[in-house]
Amino acid sequence: MSQSLVTMSYIVATILFIFSLSGLSNQETARRGNYYGMLGMAIAIVATALSASVTSYAILIVALLIGGAIGARAALKVEMTQMPELVAIMHSLVGMAAVLVGYANFMDSSLSLSGVEKNIHEIEIYIGILIGAVTFSGSVIAFGKLSERISGKPMLLPGRHWFNLCLLIAAVVLGWLFLQQTETGGGLSPLLLMTVIALLFGIHMVMAIGGADMPVVVSMLNSYSGWAAAATGFMLSNDLLIVTGALVGSSGAILSYIMCRAMNRNFISVIAGGFGTGSGGEAAVIEGEVTPINAEETAQLLLAAKNIVIIPGYGMAVAQAQHTVNEITKLLRDKGKKVGFGIHPVAGRMPGHMNVLLAEAKVPYDIVYEMDEINEDWAHVDVSIVIGANDIVNPSALDDPNSPIAGMPVLECWKGETTIVLKRSMASGYAGVGNPLFVLENTRMLFGDANATMQAVLKALKE
Ligand code: TAP
Repeated sequence: MSQSLVTMSYIVATILFIFSLSGLSNQETARRGNYYGMLGMAIAIVATALSASVTSYAILIVALLIGGAIGARAALKVEMTQMPELVAIMHSLVGMAAVLVGYANFMDSSLSLSGVEKNIHEIEIYIGILIGAVTFSGSVIAFGKLSERISGKPMLLPGRHWFNLCLLIAAVVLGWLFLQQTETGGGLSPLLLMTVIALLFGIHMVMAIGGADMPVVVSMLNSYSGWAAAATGFMLSNDLLIVTGALVGSSGAILSYIMCRAMNRNFISVIAGGFGTGSGGEAAVIEGEVTPINAEETAQLLLAAKNIVIIPGYGMAVAQAQHTVNEITKLLRDKGKKVGFGIHPVAGRMPGHMNVLLAEAKVPYDIVYEMDEINEDWAHVDVSIVIGANDIVNPSALDDPNSPIAGMPVLECWKGETTIVLKRSMASGYAGVGNPLFVLENTRMLFGDANATMQAVLKALKE
């Protein structure tokens, strides 16, 4: 394929990626956005494979088959609740690719650059490996935390900020030493040392972040993986990779900002780590009696209500209750009830988790509301059903300054007339904090697996 045709294809792919991102910003256009992304990626892969830079098709085909098979198997096998882990481990691969491409470029003796060109190329290599190594080790630790192979508690080393500062200074000094090498192939030692430092930094950064801040970490690593891809693009002089990496990097950064705003957290303090430790004092112990309710009583409350709000959380994803929830919604709406869904920005375990589940169950988009819209309206709500949600409906986030989630905006369902909480036990949620909502006077607890209890409620509603 001629270079101009490759460039044309890259431009088309870039435009499709931009359409894809804009499509993904809205539920109604998200499916189309995905198709644009898939088409753009297919064009990008074919154009790159047919470009002059590919010389060995045998290696390429074997690599595509192996990578494609692993990707397809992972995508088919993964449960919706394991998506964040999958995303985290995929990010680590982007980071590793940037490191490997960096070293391959460093060892490539066919390039004979000099002067400013040589310096720029070396800076690209150095920064590419640095970002790649931080992304790689940070993503592996995030994978461990999200899959509960590593404790979600923040690991707070004494003097950790100084430790980070020392690592940063060491990376800058090593970068300077690396650029001073004039011999071809010189500078390997500072490069290797910097790689070790960057790997350590990635591990330390994510280990220090508490469970409650993991949503920000997921989107932050997403952003890093984009910048790692962009750095790889610079090293390989591949414009498409630079643009795609920048798109992922900047959209991930915007998502991190949105996540921080949703949790009322400052980005720098998230990175500095430690949230979720309760270091400001002891969180209040939850005292009081819970009022259990059964499926038949729940159905009666729903039949008597006019305005109902459903709040889905991580437990709905675990129980895969979304289809039953949709059936109940249809039935109640057919009976003339107003039913809406309140979505917290960090409900579940990944951005947009609940929206994906509700879309899969074909819940109409126009009855799915964001937290701010719902929070204005609680005075008119007769019954709210909290399905497997916990942290996102915890009043102590608002009224207990010592709570590890203090300051995080939550869905204030207790301001409605009655709240029914569906969960299996009194266990805490992701942030590991007790929830006073469960013992409030106007709260009823419907214990059991959310899908089983929702099925029982559906049966009772039909009788
Ligand atoms: P959580 O606070 O984690 O609470 C989920 C609740 O679901 C648990 O208390 C659990 O109680 C219940 N549950 C689990 N399986 C269930 C089942 N089969 N049937 C019924 N209930 C079940 O979830 P949330 O309210 O959605 O809040 C999300 C949390 O995750 C926040 O702390 C957020 O910061 C964090 N987080 C979010 C993200 C993103 S980007 N969304 C990423 C990482 C972490 P039982 O065990 O008693 O049933």
